[in-house]
Amino acid sequence: RHHILSLADFTPAEYDTVLQTAASFQEVLSRRTKKVPTLQGQVVANLFFEPSTRTRSSFELAAKRLSADTLNFASATSSMTKGETILDTAKTYLAMGTDIMVIRHKEAGVPNAIAEEMDRLGVKVSVLNAGDGQHEHPSQALLDLFTICTLLDPDHPRLELLKDKKIAIVGDILHSRVARSNIWSLTATGAELHLAAPPTLLPKLFADYGKDRPGKLFLHWQLEPALIDADFVMTLRLQKERMSANLLPSLREYHQMFGITRSKLQLCKPNVKVLHPGPVNRGVEISSDLMDDPEFSLIQTQVTSGVAVRMALLYLIGSGKVA
Ligand code: CP
Repeated sequence: RHHILSLADFTPAEYDTVLQTAASFQEVLSRRTKKVPTLQGQVVANLFFEPSTRTRSSFELAAKRLSADTLNFASATSSMTKGETILDTAKTYLAMGTDIMVIRHKEAGVPNAIAEEMDRLGVKVSVLNAGDGQHEHPSQALLDLFTICTLLDPDHPRLELLKDKKIAIVGDILHSRVARSNIWSLTATGAELHLAAPPTLLPKLFADYGKDRPGKLFLHWQLEPALIDADFVMTLRLQKERMSANLLPSLREYHQMFGITRSKLQLCKPNVKVLHPGPVNRGVEISSDLMDDPEFSLIQTQVTSGVAVRMALLYLIGSGKVA
């Protein structure tokens, strides 16, 4: 694998390679020096055509921990404001000797288009999708998987740990690239995956994602069936920036029906854990107190895991190894 654009065709062996490699980098990050020379001399360019806090910073930190040189691009302060195209921007970074391009864009398919252009040019540049429109966010789903698996077995995180676990994904699934990538990864395990959202945010076509996968996928237009006996609950932000006004529910009503609160968690297993990819709208998809409660919330752990997982992705792609 030369690029990481989607998890749709990731194999179980690839998931386990990423999980085990991330675990070894987690160990590196616990040391005093925190740095390895693995990607010395390589250039990682973060090309972010859409805002980001977590993904951009953790890819940058991951690249620096691997001793790569990093370039950071944000479209608002770039020559795109003077009319330069996306492909010309990518070729400009190529001409500076970029080895790995990490790309975020508000339109689905932009990382794929850049990867195709690099392949057409016959250059050895890898493209990592850092979130494209409503399509996919592979590194987020992999860090979610790593967070869950390391909780179950810190020394040996692996897919099979999720066999027979019940995982709920709750919220704006329609507009969520995080949900789509997580559906691919979590149905690759033997887990039961339950999606819950109002009907406007969870069309029936999502049932197709679960076909012919080892895990079972269930759709719910009420919250309770998804929460009953769940081991993990992942909440998602209402993505107002991708919604027409007539789709946006009343935030108060939404919180009452689908917001995750301490009292609703009583339906779940007693040691249930809550995840959220961030950024969070406090008091909408999750109550503020629950978000900050380390007994239930894995939100900060997800952010921490993101650095080790992105080190693993950069290493596996940058060293020419199949991810
Ligand atoms: N989870 C995530 O993609 O967050 P950012 O938009 O801050 O990168």
